[in-house]
Amino acid sequence: MRKKIIAANWKMNKTYQQGLELASEVINMVKDEVTSDAVVVLCPPFIHLHAVARLAAGANNVFAGAQNCYTEASGAYTGETSAEMIASTGADYVIIGHSERRDYFSEGSQTLTRKVELALANGLTPIFCCGESQAIREGSNFIDYVCNQLEESLFGFDADVMRKIVIAYEPIWAIGTGLTASSAQAQEMHQALRRHLAGKYGEELANQIPILYGGSVKASNAAELFACPDVDGGLVGGASLQSREFANIVKAMA
Ligand code: PGA
Repeated sequence: MRKKIIAANWKMNKTYQQGLELASEVINMVKDEVTSDAVVVLCPPFIHLHAVARLAAGANNVFAGAQNCYTEASGAYTGETSAEMIASTGADYVIIGHSERRDYFSEGSQTLTRKVELALANGLTPIFCCGESQAIREGSNFIDYVCNQLEESLFGFDADVMRKIVIAYEPIWAIGTGLTASSAQAQEMHQALRRHLAGKYGEELANQIPILYGGSVKASNAAELFACPDVDGGLVGGASLQSREFANIVKAMA
């Protein structure tokens, strides 16, 4: 059975104190919902990461993750954070290739390959994001476009590496817009991504890789999205900033 994951992407929100309060509230609210097959990952800003990782360590099946890492292991890169540093905080996951990183920080496919390599080398699970813009969705090749994003960054890895990666499909037109992909649109893309993975790595491996949906997931739409056979959880932005709303999304997974 594939692992189910609900990941909270706080983005650049919450002061340190607010973040710790949010993490504590969420952990209290979800502790009876999570299992080893259905976990929660909290991805705060770097400032909060160590403290959130400590809170998560006190709860079963709740983990901490970073929102990004750098493409080098160490050195004179002012302001950057390495995968090794992230792992040293006690975090277990790192989001790689979020569309905001791709767009605002010009991260391309090779940059993302390097980040995935460094994450894995340091024992972190990468949550690799992919997804198409509104303009691409309006054309006829949006499925190929997203499959290519996976292929370009990840298909150089062998199967033993690939099986450690989590995918998140996040249509850019649905991020922070209140527009959500319908469950049919989400299922169509997730199934296509899984088939593409199967074409390269075989069915067995493709069936083990969690593919999360992200883009305006809320408590009110989560159950329907998570009921899709190829949707294995969510990457939640705005709705992860309120403990009750996020906990209700986690309940929808359970
Ligand atoms: P959203 O963000 O839930 O606010 O749409 C999702 C994401 O960007 O990961």
